[in-house]
Amino acid sequence: MHKKLQHFIENYQPAIEAQLNHMLATTNVPETLKSSMAYSVNAGGKRIRPLLVLATLEDLGVQSADAISIACAVELIHTYSLIHDDLPCMDDDDYRRGKLTNHKVYGEAVAVLAGDALQTLAFEVLTTLQETSPKDALQLVNMLAGASGAAGMVGGQILDIEGETKPLSLMELETVHINKTGALLSFCIEAGAVLAGLDQAKTGQLKTFAWNIGLAFQIQDDILDITSTTEALGKTAGSDISSDKSTYPSLLGLDGARERLAEHHRLAGESLSFIEQDEPLLELFADYIVNRQS
Ligand code: IPE
Ligand code: IPE
Ligand code: MG
Ligand code: MG
Ligand code: MG
Repeated sequence: MHKKLQHFIENYQPAIEAQLNHMLATTNVPETLKSSMAYSVNAGGKRIRPLLVLATLEDLGVQSADAISIACAVELIHTYSLIHDDLPCMDDDDYRRGKLTNHKVYGEAVAVLAGDALQTLAFEVLTTLQETSPKDALQLVNMLAGASGAAGMVGGQILDIEGETKPLSLMELETVHINKTGALLSFCIEAGAVLAGLDQAKTGQLKTFAWNIGLAFQIQDDILDITSTTEALGKTAGSDISSDKSTYPSLLGLDGARERLAEHHRLAGESLSFIEQDEPLLELFADYIVNRQS
């Protein structure tokens, strides 16, 4: 990993962990539910989404006391999506983030409810920001709901599940990936554009960047499912193959998937030309996303 990105991550990760735990520390939550929510949030994810929010703000020169809260709201949604994604009725996976999946420890009912509670907590966080204007906060709520809902992540998840029982075309698979994974990653970047008050043209450039890294991220996830190990991934390798899932490698072969990955990486880089500083963090992030091994 590039030194500048590594330094950035090491700098911000403790604050992300602390804020997530602060958000979970509300009183009046039944003990089992609290424990199940904390189990998955603290299971050791890479925190790519919160880091992307913060990296975008840094590249755009925005300082906001609400940055960490907004960043962590996305991680709550992401963690909820993983808990539900692993359920027996979905991908039926036993390991996540190097530990047993939530339902393996707490049972399906608690796992479903922990996911539900993390989701609503994310929106609660966005409605209690300190210095963001009500107008911007409302826009963030609207964007996060869109990115995670029926026309975003949840919509992508149903197309993904349906893809297990019928073959998908490459265009259909692109739609699955853009929705199930890209939408939430896009939110991270577009949130930065909102706080920075970016004009439409530059916001458009950032959306193109986000679209390309969203696809790249999920293509690499599909590749790693085949080329990596359960130990390295912290989740069951080969899960896509055992559920007959349509993935980039299943449609294009490994080499074809890698070519697509490289193309989206290139397009992502091009769309950052408007950022003035050398080595924008977002460019380093794109490099990391396509080269990551876990
Ligand atoms: C995994 O996301 C789920 C996908 C969208 C492919 P991450 O690879 O970011 O998982 P964590 O958060 O590090 O566990
Ligand atoms: C998951 O995609 C996307 C969401 C959780 C929304 P995958 O099913 O490919 O993710 P992993 O491989 O289980 O992490
Ligand atoms: Mg899945
Ligand atoms: Mg899965
Ligand atoms: Mg996967």
